[in-house]
Amino acid sequence: MKRELLNRIYYVGVNDRQKTLFENMLPLPYGVSYNAYFIDDEKTVLVDTVEQPFAEQLLAHVQELLAGRELDYLIVNHMEPDHSSGIKTLQAIYPNMQIVANAKTIEMLGGYYGIREGFHVVKDGDSLNIGSRTLQFHFAPMVHWPEVMVTYSIEDKLLFSADAFGCFGTLDGAVLDTELNLDKYYTEMVRYYACIVGKYGAPVQTALKKLGGLEINMICSTHGPVWTEHIGEVVGIYDRLSKYETEPGVVIAYGSMYGHTEEMAEMVARGAASVTKNVVLHDVSRSDHSYILADIFRYKGFICGAPTYCGELYPNAATLLAKIKTRGVKNHEFGCFGSFTWANATAKPFEAFAEVMKWEITGYVEVKQSMTAEQAEALYELGRAVALKTLEK
Ligand code: FEO
Repeated sequence: MKRELLNRIYYVGVNDRQKTLFENMLPLPYGVSYNAYFIDDEKTVLVDTVEQPFAEQLLAHVQELLAGRELDYLIVNHMEPDHSSGIKTLQAIYPNMQIVANAKTIEMLGGYYGIREGFHVVKDGDSLNIGSRTLQFHFAPMVHWPEVMVTYSIEDKLLFSADAFGCFGTLDGAVLDTELNLDKYYTEMVRYYACIVGKYGAPVQTALKKLGGLEINMICSTHGPVWTEHIGEVVGIYDRLSKYETEPGVVIAYGSMYGHTEEMAEMVARGAASVTKNVVLHDVSRSDHSYILADIFRYKGFICGAPTYCGELYPNAATLLAKIKTRGVKNHEFGCFGSFTWANATAKPFEAFAEVMKWEITGYVEVKQSMTAEQAEALYELGRAVALKTLEK
């Protein structure tokens, strides 16, 4: 889509409605956009590209805007291939464009694409005058790769923010937050953050503090809407998530083969629901884990239950725990429950998980074969106890 945002700055990104799994893992029920931006000044500038299969679309927009002129600069804020794999297509048509990049980006451009010259190298805080405006580069390492930088147009008070403040969801006929129903983007922003940026809470906090001194009227991310009137909300979402701040509530994620562990989960849920309305039950074999992670980033309580399987924790539950570990989720109230038929192998993996996460275990209940009345009561109490803890400051 080609669309002027302000003062000859154009949106020139694309919608991807083909891909079913982002990073070949994360479902895309609403698709995803790869956003790029064109600045038409005394110098012509493209900010980021798009994933290679869509590069011709991007090129067509850029060629139309250039109307026969040269492309002077390509700014590479982020090297992940959803934004950089279109570079070769651009470079083939505009071989003289200068690639504005930092040292880490240059190393990756060589490694990924064999590009070893034609750079305008920038350091943290450097500026580039392109005519009527000055672009300033601020490094934001690990948001979400080490080379990431953001570009600030001083005169426009506009931030090209790379992945930061991005979300899943195509841009259906419009680009600005003021022109779109934002419900799905806010929900998908939490899932996007939890799954993609979730491990990097501290670097996100560093970047937010660093950028806090800039006056920003428009945020142009690489995914999702361009933010104008709702900047406060999206910065608030990123700030809260990167501090691992949560709401009272409990996520119960369970695995079950024949329904016995699911019955246990139901009792846990009843206990939790006696305290709070915010109770979410996920079957680890049915719910895509990206949605479970999003809920875990949202709610303070997490209770996991699983059967013993081949002398270990049920694999789909173990996989979920590994994904939580990968993201270094902090500050959760944790409980667990396990089942077995002849030898229990659930207690130790849960203990090991809690130790790595530095989470205290509020309670653990085990059931051999099927649940007794006493065990049902203990499970109810487990749900209740964790939910109560999530209400504490
Ligand atoms: Fe959308 Fe980290 O790339």
